Amino acid sequence: MSHSEANRVRIFDTTLRDGEQSPGASMTLEEKLRIAEVLEAMKVDVIEAGFAIASNGDFECVQKIAEQIKNSTVCSLARAALGDIERAGEAIKPAKSGRIHTFIATSPLHMQVKLQMDPEDVIEAIHKSVSHARKYTDDVEWSAEDATRSELPFLYRAIETAIKAGATTINLPDTVGYATPDEYMAMFRSVIANVANADKAIFSTHCHNDLGLAVANSLAGVAGGARQIECTINGIGERAGNAAMEEVVMAIKTRGDALPFHTRIVTPEIMRASKLVSTVTGFAVQNNKAIVGANAFAHESGIHQDGMLKNAETYEIMTPASIGLMKSSLTMGKHSGRHAFADKLKDLGYELGDNAFQECFRRFKALGDRKKNIYDEDIIALVDDEVATS
Ligand code: KIV
Ligand code: ZN
Repeated sequence: MSHSEANRVRIFDTTLRDGEQSPGASMTLEEKLRIAEVLEAMKVDVIEAGFAIASNGDFECVQKIAEQIKNSTVCSLARAALGDIERAGEAIKPAKSGRIHTFIATSPLHMQVKLQMDPEDVIEAIHKSVSHARKYTDDVEWSAEDATRSELPFLYRAIETAIKAGATTINLPDTVGYATPDEYMAMFRSVIANVANADKAIFSTHCHNDLGLAVANSLAGVAGGARQIECTINGIGERAGNAAMEEVVMAIKTRGDALPFHTRIVTPEIMRASKLVSTVTGFAVQNNKAIVGANAFAHESGIHQDGMLKNAETYEIMTPASIGLMKSSLTMGKHSGRHAFADKLKDLGYELGDNAFQECFRRFKALGDRKKNIYDEDIIALVDDEVATS
């Protein structure tokens, strides 16, 4: 893995903005502050704290987070409208490091139907919005909403306009989760090769998960030259969600051989962040969710449990500690083998003779056929009964 600055991928967390746009996920000021503190402890580069113009509550959240967070850049979203930008500029004023993130759609569909604007008017709006944002901060990000359904020549012009007006980060969102990894990588390569002064900006991915490709697309964007990934904790966000931060970060950390990049995320904070976001939003994390799901470090089959007891690398590609989990678990059930059962008995403080062990194991397997989850209490009851009656 190369640790040069050129290969550093910035993590832009939008849990508090795009994540909050998940239906039913709205958060109070106090909850947002708690999440922002965990994101700061994780060393997230940029925290998108909200959309200041959206409501007085959102404005207050961005402002309070800007006041309290010192080690991450605090960002507010703004449409390409002067009023939005002024509100965003006002909200990030207390920040030690503040960013305005302004956006406008560049795809024919969005320009014609949603914005009802001519492409030339969109170019003018980009120039005006980015220049205006630069009056509040040197750190301006511009996004081409629906970039992946935009025409490349127009996208080049739009990006050139944003860079010329002073944008230092250019984000190319896959707003509707439509791109495939190859297409998304190719888009970054073409843009970086064809846009004048592309080297003056950091390019950024922002992927939605409508086809379940958000993480793969984000990593493909980085392979194509992007050096910022926009993502959310647990992948929450509009519709099917955004790229999950824990997945992109652990993919980069675990597969440095195939993905020669690095982030500065303190990965042992991942589990704490996941649990907090899940508790605050009420969105349960599915058991088989990569990295943070309840089963991500749990092993049920006898063959896997035997392998794990010999060497955890047989069935785990990262350590539980690396994401802030105390330890892996060997789930006891009908698939468990003798090795795992013996290990469990040792854990519970039992030392059984050979015959007693064989009988307990037989009874344990029979129980497994009747009962989905076998808890320690079930095993204790079973062994105590066997010892008392034999
Ligand atoms: O998905 C998207 O295009 C967005 C932009 C506002 C960046 O969230
Ligand atoms: Zn989005």
